[in-house]
Amino acid sequence: MSSWLLSLIFVLLTRIAGSYKILIVSPTLSHSHIHFQGSIADVLAEAGHEVHIFMPDYAPDEKSNGSMKAHRITLYKATTATQFAEIPFKHDVFAQNVGFAFDFPAWDCFLNTTVQYCIDILNDEPLLDSLRSERYDVAMAEGYTFCYFGIFHALGIRTKIVTLAISLTENLADAWGIPSPKSYVVMRIPISQNANQIGL
Ligand SMILES: *[C@@H]1O[C@H](CO)[C@@H](O)[C@H](O)[C@H]1NC(C)=O
Ligand SMILES: *[C@@H]1O[C@H](CO)[C@@H](O)[C@H](O)[C@H]1NC(C)=O
Repeated sequence: MSSWLLSLIFVLLTRIAGSYKILIVSPTLSHSHIHFQGSIADVLAEAGHEVHIFMPDYAPDEKSNGSMKAHRITLYKATTATQFAEIPFKHDVFAQNVGFAFDFPAWDCFLNTTVQYCIDILNDEPLLDSLRSERYDVAMAEGYTFCYFGIFHALGIRTKIVTLAISLTENLADAWGIPSPKSYVVMRIPISQNANQIGL
């Protein structure tokens, strides 16, 4: 049997078995976020799906890729330096007296970073062409920015999944149009001083 026929049978069999090609965006936000996305990649790869991780390199000091089983991992660097390293939260998490959700200077640095990567990726035609040619069935990213979901749309990926490694804070719920009843949804992430007040 010729090799192309074998390849065709393999492709057909994997389709019948329900194997998908999945793109996971995992910016190097921090160790925990990288491992959260990487663990999802590992579970999906173990289940027989082909999983590619795309890592916008927000924090080059984060060296881990978070996954042992992803089939491909691509690190992507912005064309311009961003303000990601200036986020106070990244320097001393215990020195803050406000939760990250209300730390607006931090969100400004985060916004600068996500917008810079968004512009760079959308201007990078060879990258978009190569991602488009993969014909991913599913794409997922954490929901702290809308940008990656717009990029998934531009790549023609119809099934998009929002993940979150943290609880759904009120500002994120608002952004996604999800109701967040005050009685049981945390309004911010309590850190340091605030944590004492609620007995943590
Ligand atoms: C991701 O990192 C792990 C641990 O360092 C390594 O074993 C693996 O080969 C890396 N994955 C890819 C696709 O480079
Ligand atoms: C982000 O900040 C850097 C450094 O201040 C600046 O050069 C860059 O233009 C900013 N990017 C955006 C999208 O605002």
